[in-house]
Amino acid sequence: MINKLEATLEEVLQERSMPRAELLEAMQYSLLAGGKRLRPLLYLRHIGEEVTPATEDYRFAAAIEMIHTYSLIHDDLPAMDDDDLRRGKPSNHKVYGEAMAILAGDALLSEAFSVILEISRSNLQFLPMGILLADAAGMKGMVYGQSLDMLYENMQVPMEDYTQMIRLKTGKMISLPLEVAAMRLGYSGFKRKKMAQMGSLLGEIFQLKDDILDVTGEEAALGKHVGSDQMEGKCTLPVIYGLEKALQIYDDKCDVFRELMREAELSKPLQLFYENILQREK
Ligand code: IPE
Ligand code: IPE
Ligand code: MG
Ligand code: MG
Ligand code: MG
Repeated sequence: MINKLEATLEEVLQERSMPRAELLEAMQYSLLAGGKRLRPLLYLRHIGEEVTPATEDYRFAAAIEMIHTYSLIHDDLPAMDDDDLRRGKPSNHKVYGEAMAILAGDALLSEAFSVILEISRSNLQFLPMGILLADAAGMKGMVYGQSLDMLYENMQVPMEDYTQMIRLKTGKMISLPLEVAAMRLGYSGFKRKKMAQMGSLLGEIFQLKDDILDVTGEEAALGKHVGSDQMEGKCTLPVIYGLEKALQIYDDKCDVFRELMREAELSKPLQLFYENILQREK
């Protein structure tokens, strides 16, 4: 599954060759730099519980990862988090310059929707899924959350505001794969509701852990600098509540998530997949 996903990412870039390759190279640099591939894998794993994912599913999954990668390239820019290490390598703008990094992000975003519109031509099912992805990525989702993240720099906002911010900036792009998988598989009622609940809680959990790892993590494992949130005055859970309380909140949320998995009667392999996410150190 992961190999086929990687191959699809490469393929999508190859199909977009151009006479001057600088832009494509910058896109390739970040898109093919590894990364956990969590968001596309969430989608593919759920599809794979029922059927063998089709080529279109891999392309949809690739589009999700293209949008995520664009968000990381822009997130690292000096105007945003000003981080110079990503996925174990110098950030995109450190290698290609700020202008090309902005453009590589722009192109990954547009081309992601080009990939989805293309597969929608032969299978209309992907069209509403693409609309949900647009909502998750844009001003109702990740981009809105990122704007709050910037507005909250050097502030101590109440817990509700922090939670809303992480649900948007990270949660939306993590719950999206579950939501669209449920749609593609034709789930309704209880199953669909459980998928939605798991997705939204997982999104929160994922960013809480990211914030915690920025304090306790290992740079070599994470492939990004630790302590950079504090340096940039980011409003994070350990900053609001201190590390100990943050860890406790994290554990409580994980327990709720495990309960949701039981209610949803997930298969053992899928539960293990999620358990690894909850316990991640990178
Ligand atoms: C990093 O996402 C940005 C956040 C939303 C916390 P990931 O931790 O999934 O980064 P990669 O894709 O593995 O590099
Ligand atoms: C999530 O937050 C970033 C995006 C939504 C792209 P962070 O800024 O904490 O992510 P990292 O720590 O740089 O990966
Ligand atoms: Mg950020
Ligand atoms: Mg960042
Ligand atoms: Mg972070």
